Amino acid sequence: MCGIFAYFGPNDKAAEIVLKGLKKLEYRGYDSWGIAAKQENGDIVVEKHVGKISEVINLNEKLEKPSHVAFGHSRWATHGGVTEYNAHPHTTENGEVVVVHNGIFENYLELKGELISQGHQFRSETDTEVFAHLIEDEMEEGFEAAFIRATKKVEGRYAVLAMSKDENKIIAARRGSPLIVGKGQDGAYFIASDVPAFLEYTKDVMYLDDNQMVILDKDGARFFNLPDGKQIEKRIISIDWEEEMADKCGYPHFMIKEIMEQKETISRAINLDSELLSEVAEKIRGAFGTYIVGCGTAGKVAMVGEYLFAEIAKKHVNVKFGSEFGSAKSFLKDRSLVIAISQSGETADTLEAIEIAKSKGATIVSIVNVETSTMARMSDIVLPLKAGPEKAVASTKATTSQIAILTLLAYAVADDLNTGRKTLIEAEGKINDMLNPRYEQHIEAASDRIKDCSDIMVIGRGSNYPIALEAAIKLQEVSYIHAEGFAGGELKHGPIALISEGTPCIVISSNDEYQKEILSNAMEVKSRGALIIGVGPEKSEIYDYWIKVPDALNASPILNIIPIQILAYKLAVARQNNPDMPRNLAKSVTVK
Ligand code: G6P
Repeated sequence: MCGIFAYFGPNDKAAEIVLKGLKKLEYRGYDSWGIAAKQENGDIVVEKHVGKISEVINLNEKLEKPSHVAFGHSRWATHGGVTEYNAHPHTTENGEVVVVHNGIFENYLELKGELISQGHQFRSETDTEVFAHLIEDEMEEGFEAAFIRATKKVEGRYAVLAMSKDENKIIAARRGSPLIVGKGQDGAYFIASDVPAFLEYTKDVMYLDDNQMVILDKDGARFFNLPDGKQIEKRIISIDWEEEMADKCGYPHFMIKEIMEQKETISRAINLDSELLSEVAEKIRGAFGTYIVGCGTAGKVAMVGEYLFAEIAKKHVNVKFGSEFGSAKSFLKDRSLVIAISQSGETADTLEAIEIAKSKGATIVSIVNVETSTMARMSDIVLPLKAGPEKAVASTKATTSQIAILTLLAYAVADDLNTGRKTLIEAEGKINDMLNPRYEQHIEAASDRIKDCSDIMVIGRGSNYPIALEAAIKLQEVSYIHAEGFAGGELKHGPIALISEGTPCIVISSNDEYQKEILSNAMEVKSRGALIIGVGPEKSEIYDYWIKVPDALNASPILNIIPIQILAYKLAVARQNNPDMPRNLAKSVTVK
């Protein structure tokens, strides 16, 4: 949610480096963008526009002048509409102080009122602009002291960067939203919201934790605690992601590249260390309540987990969306266990759930893709997905890896990890067979049939119920067709009233105890005019169109979601939507 990129170093094309870095962060927000560069005479030049930064070829000629210090921002609007004024960077009236920000300053209205009464003039409707004015107000003891004072006044979760005309430096602080510092060659430093943005320059990174500040200047990168301003040392961590992992590698979009990568990512997930799995299994067995928590797609994966634990381990677990975790507060004890699921490891609602659980002394296990994320660092045990960077907003490869790890965990709790691995290895072979051009074409034909419809229903039973919910999310996110997932048995209690002649209904099934019942549900909607698209191992005469998915026993939820990912992608392309950057959405949601 909002991408930030900064450069400080020997290269005099700082603005261009920032432009390039921001393009790699565009998946975090893409309604407007802006860059500020400090020129050799001390002036800070700002350029900002509404629109996607990926479409920018050249910067304004003022930004082409030599500059060694610059930062920029790609916005996902929270406060204030999508306008040039509201785009970041934000400056004070005289351009002395310039800031970019990700997150929300919750008390900005109060602060803005005070600043206006003192004579400050505001140009935007954003919460961000207050930070620039707060710094300006405190400048008498210098930029650093003013920045620290400003952080003391704002409330909320944020990552914020500032530059001042008076000093050759960038100051950044973090409370709740990610910021990573990259150490490049010859004294070059980068700051970004996510590592892939500077992978081409360096793999050596230093993570800013909450309530910490970093100063980039001629002395390098210096880190401090907030609010006391005490200097601290940071360890350099070497990232094992390759730059090309974060590129499209010849695919037209990241989404289809990441769908196809599932041939390899599943095997990386299932190679997870047995000892680590057994350690977590032991904790689940001994826990006073296990809670699986996630948001969006990760929340649906958590729901799949509930079915997997019931079926495989005969174990009850609780499932909560991150934003709804508060209701579990009264039941959490120091023996409770929270399993947080997340691709980014930065989702604010999930992080808050972890904070609540930690305050009760609970143990935290995270199943995350970004191993160095805030969530991973807050966890007692991390089960890494090892899926490589996922850049399309709609999660695909991270989803199936998360389900694979939950499947393994359920088998570990049942003390039968070998069967779990065997089941998943067989499933992996079947995924390899599925992901071929003919399969894609077959799904494209289904997409052609339904691309102009206004609603899609998806139904499933058992573990295919949360898969139906996830399928609906995928379809909504990138096709913009109204799609809803239902438990097959619930249709007759209301949703069936929505069926009219030709409404597509996707029926997800497996070779399980629910197969007959889900087919009866399919028949109920077919008799009312629905067009039935069956997704599963067995063909049925009820289906108007069948997308075959090989039978994969308890790994079936993993396989069943893959054709829907492809269908969503094909629908997006057919409807001329950009599947990588769906409207109104952001990859990593760092606000509550
Ligand atoms: C956003 C993304 C979703 C993702 C969700 C949770 O809404 O658009 O694709 O599922 O956040 O993200 P996480 O990084 O925690 O998995």
